[in-house]
Amino acid sequence: MNVQQALQHAQQTLNPISGNAHYAARRLLGHILNQDATWLHLHPDAELAPEQHLAFQDALTRLQDGYPLAYILGEWGFYQWDFVVNEHVLVPRPETEVLVEQAVQWAQIHYPAGHFVDIGTGSGIIAVSVGLLLPQASVLALDVSPTTLAVATLNAERLKANNVQFQQSDLLAEIPPQPFDMILANLPYIDSDELQTLAVSHYEPALALDGGPAGMILIERLLKQSVDYIQAGSTIWLEIGIEQGRAVQNLAQSIFPHAQVDILHDLTNRDRVAKIVIQETPS
Ligand SMILES: C[S@@+](CC[C@H](N)C(=O)[O-])C[C@H]1O[C@@H](n2cnc3c(N)ncnc32)[C@H](O)[C@@H]1O
Repeated sequence: MNVQQALQHAQQTLNPISGNAHYAARRLLGHILNQDATWLHLHPDAELAPEQHLAFQDALTRLQDGYPLAYILGEWGFYQWDFVVNEHVLVPRPETEVLVEQAVQWAQIHYPAGHFVDIGTGSGIIAVSVGLLLPQASVLALDVSPTTLAVATLNAERLKANNVQFQQSDLLAEIPPQPFDMILANLPYIDSDELQTLAVSHYEPALALDGGPAGMILIERLLKQSVDYIQAGSTIWLEIGIEQGRAVQNLAQSIFPHAQVDILHDLTNRDRVAKIVIQETPS
């Protein structure tokens, strides 16, 4: 099998399961052959070695079974950077760029050198992106899982996000009370029962997805804890599920009666981010 045949075969195989089989086929074959897209384009007749052919077929079978391409590649793009990923972390989602973009725009105006915390940092995409986009700021990145934190730490090192520090913590439980300018979080927010029915639960860590009943357990715990970590002017940015806008808005408003709470939309115009602007320091 040569490069051209391999690409055609992969594209046909992946078409029913991938939104962009053309891209996936090229990324996969490039990874197996250790070549970039230009090389693939220039060498359609290059033959795959038997072990490359085997590895390619094996990877296609795994992808057909729902295994994420990101885990096979060992990296995935988010914002303007490639992040190392493995089975210990959630694969970065483009929806999360909404949170980063909106929070960074706000911080550039209000506190470009602020003190921020990212809770449930996973591969570190939020903390590292914010740290790189706001080099004068300091970012504390937390996760309950040490294996996850190892991936996030590696990403910060590779991308030279020197203003990001990592610590293991169950939400904010291990962090002494202090005012943060921004609290950022993409916590697990899928309803436990619904998660059982979703393909995403087969390979990505349950710890990154399972938000308990109605998907609200961690969001609620964090909002309640946050009272001790804010001051007037602080903002809280939470990624939420597309059906959680109203529930999160009501919850946030009950915990922070004087806050301005808005639900922001993603590119498909669905609820995606809760933005909570604290108006006065809680007494
Ligand atoms: C939805 S993933 C988000 C990962 C990353 N921030 C992103 O946007 O791709 C949620 C993360 O929260 C972490 N997590 C789950 N429960 C936690 C808890 N009680 N305290 C801190 N982190 C937690 C998981 O380990 C996982 O990395």
